[in-house]
Amino acid sequence: MAELIWINGTLHPVAEARVSVLDHGLTVGDGVFETLKAVDGAPFAARRHLDRLRRSADGLGLVVACSDDELRAAMDAVLSVQPLHLARVRITVTGGPAPLGSERGEAPATVVVAAGPLVPPAPSTAVCVVPWPRNERGALAGIKSTSYAENVVALARAREQGCSEALFATTTGLLCEGTGSNVFIVLGGRLCTPPLSSGCLAGVTRQLVLETTDAVEVDLSMDDLAAADEVFLTSTGRDVQAVHRVDQRELAAPGPVTAAAAAAFAELTARSLDP
Ligand SMILES: Cc1ncc(COP(=O)(O)O)c(C=O)c1O
Repeated sequence: MAELIWINGTLHPVAEARVSVLDHGLTVGDGVFETLKAVDGAPFAARRHLDRLRRSADGLGLVVACSDDELRAAMDAVLSVQPLHLARVRITVTGGPAPLGSERGEAPATVVVAAGPLVPPAPSTAVCVVPWPRNERGALAGIKSTSYAENVVALARAREQGCSEALFATTTGLLCEGTGSNVFIVLGGRLCTPPLSSGCLAGVTRQLVLETTDAVEVDLSMDDLAAADEVFLTSTGRDVQAVHRVDQRELAAPGPVTAAAAAAFAELTARSLDP
């Protein structure tokens, strides 16, 4: 069956799925989103992702008119027509049709649910630090907003350097996160990750790793990153992914702490669909 897109309660064949060219998500990036992983048609950690979607929407003052049950049914509907072992489900909520400036219009939010294939993560990857800071005090800090152009620019820089992810520091020079992932480092035998006060996204995978390991949330400098014995990334698409190079520095990957965190996460994933 052909791919279907769910828009505001209705399913459309992908070729006929339309939103307004005046949608505030398109004109000014006024929107929030979630990306979930689905295994054999079943979304993983849906409760946590739906909770974060609501938190992000609240952060932008967007009203998501549909219930979690409707969103779960929408995910099931778009997944059911694509027999994929590993899929990515995307929920996007935008400000809806609006005037051409930053001011929002009267129309209700646009809600779109779509699914497509998810490429399994490589066992390890290379990352580089980019020169642009993450603003941990900005209005969008910690919000999974569709205003991702900074991430697009940073990721393009990383790709030029043969890396699959770019890492940001905060405005005060602390380690923050990647363009689409959280970061963990092993320092002096301790597994550490930046706290949410760094402005990083409250990653679902990050939180599950915190709950299944003895990792601690602590402010980390970029020198800590440069001195780390192990580094790994977490995200919905990467799970726990070892890092074998940070800038020019090669690292053993996976190191023992990374391997243990990855095993704990894999065990959790196998045990529970909605941990
Ligand atoms: C900026 C950013 N940080 C971290 C993450 C990781 O979050 P999660 O584990 O929920 O996928 C993402 C994922 O989309 C992200 O966009």
